[in-house]
Amino acid sequence: MKLEDIYCTQDYSLYTEEDHKVWQTLCERQHQSLRGKACRQFYEGLEKIGLDFTRMPRLDDINDRIKPITGWTARAVPGYLDSRYFFKSLQQRTYPTTVAIRSAENIDYVEEPDIFHDVFGHVALQADPVYGELMRNLGDINGITTTDLDVLEITRLFWFTIEFGLIRENGEERILGSGFLSSPGEAGYCLSDKVERRPFRLAEVIAQPFRIDVYQDILFVAESLEQLIEAAKVLIYQINERNTIRWGTK
Ligand SMILES: [Fe+2]
Repeated sequence: MKLEDIYCTQDYSLYTEEDHKVWQTLCERQHQSLRGKACRQFYEGLEKIGLDFTRMPRLDDINDRIKPITGWTARAVPGYLDSRYFFKSLQQRTYPTTVAIRSAENIDYVEEPDIFHDVFGHVALQADPVYGELMRNLGDINGITTTDLDVLEITRLFWFTIEFGLIRENGEERILGSGFLSSPGEAGYCLSDKVERRPFRLAEVIAQPFRIDVYQDILFVAESLEQLIEAAKVLIYQINERNTIRWGTK
């Protein structure tokens, strides 16, 4: 399958009034829950992409605004994506974006990503040039030869940064991860005293197991996005070196 085959079109006419209402409720409620908790890049990103809380987003409109700033675009995908294609798409500064939205009955939680998680949580941040660089560097995971251990380490790095990461900003801990940015319950929980927050260190992060079915009790706080870019490069280098020794090839 070619990379192009993973994408679909966003047929805006298919969204119902209920979909628009769910979107509005999610955006307004989440913006309220995050008040003062999210990182600067997130709030600036919402402004830069001109996100309208009252109507479902059109990816073409977002792209008109985001592409001139960071070169990123959001392209529609129907749903779950194999990680090889996901990283390949990131390498091309294209975020595979789910276009379906959760139903009103499931407004509080859905297992699979939907357009709220992907646009509100991920795409807004990509309007920041340094965050855009981080995601592009993570895209370089595509093309490296991986063992099960490598995949585990990559998954943990992604999990504890892009999805459930924190970042220090003017001495304060702020939310960076898209999973927190798009989850009302976790947005409050992750900065509470129920969570042990450790300084981000690559070696610790890639050795830290996590469960997807419970709130995280250990999180990592990055000092900067630049630190995470460096970590992504180091991990890719380490995996390449390890596999060169193991197999004699890259
Ligand atoms: Fe995500």
